[in-house]
Amino acid sequence: MPVKPITSLDLKNKKVLVRCDFNVPIQDGKIQDTGRIDASLDTIRHILQHGGSAVICSHLGRPKERSAELSLKPIAEYLSTALAQKIVLAPDCIGDHTGKMVDALKPGEALLLENLRFHREEEANDRDFSHELARHKQVYVNDAFGTAHRAHASTVGVTKFLAERAAGFLMMRELDALRAVTENPEHPAIAILGGAKVSDKIGVIKNLITKVDSILIGGAMAYTFLKAKGIPVGRSRVEDDKVELARELLALADSKQVKILLPSDHIVSAEPEATTSIYTVNDIPSAMMALDIGPRTVESFIAEIARAKTVIWNGPLGFFEIPAFAEGTMKVGEALANQTGVKSIIGGGDTASAIAHAPWANKFTHISTGGGATLEYLEGRELPGVKALGS
Ligand code: 3PG
Repeated sequence: MPVKPITSLDLKNKKVLVRCDFNVPIQDGKIQDTGRIDASLDTIRHILQHGGSAVICSHLGRPKERSAELSLKPIAEYLSTALAQKIVLAPDCIGDHTGKMVDALKPGEALLLENLRFHREEEANDRDFSHELARHKQVYVNDAFGTAHRAHASTVGVTKFLAERAAGFLMMRELDALRAVTENPEHPAIAILGGAKVSDKIGVIKNLITKVDSILIGGAMAYTFLKAKGIPVGRSRVEDDKVELARELLALADSKQVKILLPSDHIVSAEPEATTSIYTVNDIPSAMMALDIGPRTVESFIAEIARAKTVIWNGPLGFFEIPAFAEGTMKVGEALANQTGVKSIIGGGDTASAIAHAPWANKFTHISTGGGATLEYLEGRELPGVKALGS
């Protein structure tokens, strides 16, 4: 069943449970990256402006028990500023006291519930907990794309008790962007895949091989593929138990006439942390490890992207946390951002972190807020949080 958008709901005088993914990095009480919160503000504003009361909920981290560090307090403060109205933090997400706070909300007012994962029942998708979460509300809006791959009480269980439900604006944007890549993408369609491990991307590669014209591979995972082709990789990170699989994936791509581009030159160093002794090489010396794609590879990747109408990118192309090895990711990112006439979708997680602060980051068609959720979607799997909205 297709997912309904929030705009299809009558929100007037309704208490709306809105599930957001505010699982953001917080250090010493300070939010390090507000991207995921900002991305859901339009959904919350829509509820408030249409006469609803927003009962906002989210998880934060993976707490084993209630802890001050994983309280949503800094998020309530941030929301109060961003929405220019006081957003009170309820001391819990369920219970009579919280219920009374929900009942007291007037149209146009919002309340943030405390971390859902302070209750084990949330991740267990417990029926009674889901029922409690739904109590005092009439409508459910799911805007937590980043958590849509989790079958939890607040993403799945609660939908059994709230018949009026829809996807928030962020959820709709995410699904629209990913559909544009996976359902009849405009060709040429290209996937850029990076990151440390082939094992994390097996499902994505298998699924995208049936949809795209070429796959550009960088990051440490490229070296397992190069080894599979018999190319010496020195001390570069390789998953030895995946070399055979990499060989099979290359053969599969070949049989589907999908071009696979692997790095042809590399930035190498003796140690990953070394900031000296960095070289650009065509052939990796036996004592060295490759930590980024080299300039010739950057050029060939950019040339391939230049002819694309659709690009999906998941995973950085080098060890981007160290600036000396971030250049490949940044140069390819900049070229894609500045390219016109292309639908460019950036997967969340590491890829988004790598480029989020670049001055051209706002030029992509879409940067996903989902890490695991985006990966599972690109693997062709149904996301339980999305399915539950429709069923
Ligand atoms: C994420 O950050 O990927 C989501 O918020 C899901 O978090 P989880 O992996 O702890 O379920």
